Amino acid sequence: MKNLNFKDKWILVTGASSGLGEEMARQLAVQHGANLILLARRKERLEQLKITIESETESSVDIVVADLSQPEQIEEILETIISRRDLYAAILNAGVTYLGKHLALPKEQFNQMIQINIISVTYMTTQLVAYFEKKKSVGGIMIVSSMAAIFPTPFQAAYAGTKGFLLNFASALSQELDNKELSLTIFLPGGIATEMTAGDGFNELRGYLMPVQQVAKEGLLAFKKRKSTYIPGFLNRLSSKLSFLLRKEFIIKQTGKTYKKSLDRHSEL
Ligand SMILES: NC(=O)c1ccc[n+]([C@@H]2O[C@H](COP(=O)([O-])OP(=O)(O)OC[C@H]3O[C@@H](n4cnc5c(N)ncnc54)[C@H](OP(=O)(O)O)[C@@H]3O)[C@@H](O)[C@H]2O)c1
Repeated sequence: MKNLNFKDKWILVTGASSGLGEEMARQLAVQHGANLILLARRKERLEQLKITIESETESSVDIVVADLSQPEQIEEILETIISRRDLYAAILNAGVTYLGKHLALPKEQFNQMIQINIISVTYMTTQLVAYFEKKKSVGGIMIVSSMAAIFPTPFQAAYAGTKGFLLNFASALSQELDNKELSLTIFLPGGIATEMTAGDGFNELRGYLMPVQQVAKEGLLAFKKRKSTYIPGFLNRLSSKLSFLLRKEFIIKQTGKTYKKSLDRHSEL
């Protein structure tokens, strides 16, 4: 399969109003010459990004204001996107977490996380795969999961569960594709310095966070090269490779201790 070439193509990026999605959108325009469909809830942020990208590059940008915690609307929204633009690729990046003891996670917030991280992504992937299968054209879908899918993180238990779902779902689905020009990439970052990790509860973990620019760059390269799964960061890749030397339970326990220390320090403030 040839590499994806994003130049002058339309690419959908969800969660483009901040963090990894915003940075991938920027790099797709500046370094890859792509046209963009940017989706998130915060309209002003998307409008500002559109102005910046269109004034600094040749790329065109559409913005779509949508709430992925309402997945019954997303199929209609995606249908409109597909009918307006010749979609070449999609990066399903939007996601939310909860940091703290699982027993303290309000049910409403848990339900929202499931809607955003699992149901919306699954609905959109299903619809996008059907679109590319019918079109029989070159295309790519990248799903942003997390290293938490491989090494579940205590104190982000439900989040780790949602990211594990995405890894299993997409890994299995990628073997069902008939269109040989369509690839599914599952991106598995470790910690990234973004809004998601900006809270004080992550203070003790800052040393483990990668700069968002580097994560976005590696993610786009992996997507372009049609990698099935990809972990950004040499140390992250090394630790996942060497993990067979240690028991998974041990790694999860150590991660839990680090998170607990960070949360305890935060609650003492
Ligand atoms: N940060 C990390 O350490 C880390 C590590 C591994 C994986 N990831 C994954 O990377 C992805 C991006 O996260 P990030 O770190 O860039 O976090 P972020 O800065 O908080 O960005 C999250 C994005 O998702 C969008 N979003 C949240 N809820 C939404 C909703 N209901 N409807 C539509 N869009 C929504 C947000 O836009 P609006 O608020 O404007 O809607 C925002 O653009 C997530 O899937 C996350 O799980 C992050």
